[in-house]
Amino acid sequence: MKDLSPKKGDLEPIEIASRDEISALQLERMKWSLKHAYDNVPHYKKSFDDAGVHPDDLKTLSDLAKFPFTMKQDLRDNYPFGLFAVPRNKIQRLHASSGTTGQPTVVGYTERDIDTWATVVARSLRASGTRAGDVVHVAYGYGLFTGGLGAHYGAEKLGCTVVPISGGMTQRQVQLIEDFGASTIMVTPSYMLSILDEYARQGRDPRESCLNVGVFGAEPWTNAMRAEIEQAFDMHAVDIYGLSEVMGPGVASECVETKDGLHIWEDHFYPEIINPETGEVVEDGEMGELVFTSLTKEAFPIIRYRTRDLTRLLPGTARAMRRMEKITGRTDDMIILRGVNVFPTQIEEQLMAVPALAPHFQIELDRKGRMDRMTVHVELASNTSDGDQAANMLAAKIKSNVGVSARVVLADAGGVARSQGKAVRFVDNRNKS
Ligand code: DLL
Repeated sequence: MKDLSPKKGDLEPIEIASRDEISALQLERMKWSLKHAYDNVPHYKKSFDDAGVHPDDLKTLSDLAKFPFTMKQDLRDNYPFGLFAVPRNKIQRLHASSGTTGQPTVVGYTERDIDTWATVVARSLRASGTRAGDVVHVAYGYGLFTGGLGAHYGAEKLGCTVVPISGGMTQRQVQLIEDFGASTIMVTPSYMLSILDEYARQGRDPRESCLNVGVFGAEPWTNAMRAEIEQAFDMHAVDIYGLSEVMGPGVASECVETKDGLHIWEDHFYPEIINPETGEVVEDGEMGELVFTSLTKEAFPIIRYRTRDLTRLLPGTARAMRRMEKITGRTDDMIILRGVNVFPTQIEEQLMAVPALAPHFQIELDRKGRMDRMTVHVELASNTSDGDQAANMLAAKIKSNVGVSARVVLADAGGVARSQGKAVRFVDNRNKS
C-alpha cells in the first residue's frame, strides 16, 4: 500500500491547534449556536424554558449538560420545516431520511452550511490520503440521502475529479473505476464487498486495481472487515462518520496514517457521551451514547442530539481533535437474545475469523414457542468446499466469544442479500409466526 501520510503544510491550522485553542473556539461558537437556536426556533425556546435554562447560562463547555436533549421524535413532530432557524427562502438544500417508521425527517442547509459541509468532507478526504487532482469515485447514493451529494461537494472542494456514479449497476462501477482511473472510492463497506465480487466475476484482479483508498461509512463495520478489504484490494480503508441530523458524512473521519478511530471535527460539532439510561454525561474513555451539538450551522442548529450510536471519546493522535472509537452499533440495533446483548458487528468480527466463509451475512430472528432464535445466513468463500466444518466453526466462535447460541445456515453463492447502500443486517421474523 502507498504511503499517503500528510506532508508538512497539508493540514488546516485548527487540525494542529492546542486543546486550549480548540476549547476557546468551541465555547465562543457554542454560545452563538445556543442563542441562534433559542432566538429563532420556537421548539428550542420552549424546551429551554421548560428546563429552566437560558443560553446565557452557558459559561463553560460543561454547562451544556444543563440543556435538554433533542431526539429523532422532535424532528418528526416539527415536520417539515419547524426546526429551521432561517426563513425557507434562505435554504439552499433539503435532505431527508427515508422514514421507514412513517414520517420522514427533513434537514436544511443555507449556502454557508453547504460550504461548511464541503469543507469538513474535504478535510476528511485529505485525512484519508486523497489529494487535489485525484479521481474520486462516489458510489454513495445520490438524492435525499446525504451520502452522495455530501461526498461529492467535499471532493470537488478538495480539487478532485469527481465521478458521481451513485449506488447500483455494479458491473459498471468496476468498469468505470478502472477506465477513469479512480484512486479513491467513497462507498458503504457492504457495497464495497459487492464490488469486490464483481471484480472476480469479470476476471479482474482487485489487487491490480487503481484504487489506493476507500472512504467507508454510513453503517457500522469492524477492523476485521477493514483487514479483509485492505488485503483484497491492496488499498487503505478508512472510516467516515456522519448523520443527516448533524450534517451528513464528514462529522468525523479517520486518518490514513494511524487508522485508530475517527477524529471528530470539533470546530463544528461538539461531542458528548452519555449513559443512555440516565442521560448523565460520562467521562472521556467511557462507552455510551454519542450526543452532538452543532457549533456553526445556520439553517438547522441542533442542540444535544441523541444519535443512538454507541462509542467512546479518546484523545487526539494524528490531529488535535478528539477521536471516537469505531461505532459498535446503535442502541436500536441491539438485539437482546436470552439476556445477552448482540450487535451485528460482533457477528461480523467472528465471521471474518473464518476464512472459509465469504464476508456477506444476514441475521434472522424468529421465535419458537417463547424462545427467540438467531440464525446467521452466510456463504462459502469461492475456494472452499467443506461447508459444514466452516458453519460449525462460526457457530462455536459466536457461542464462545459473543455468548449466544446461533444457527449458522449456508446459502448458495449469491444467496445472501447484497447491499447497494446500507446493509440490512437483521431480518426480524419474531412476530410473524
Ligand atoms: O449515513 C451519513 C453518511 C453518509 C455517513 C456516508 C458516512 C458516509 P444517515 O443516513 O442520517 O447519514 O445515517 C446516520 O448511520 O447515526 C450511524 O448509525 C450510521 N453511520 C454513519 N456513519 C457510520 C460509520 C449517513 N462510519 C447513521 N460507522 C448514524 C458506523 C455509521 N455507523
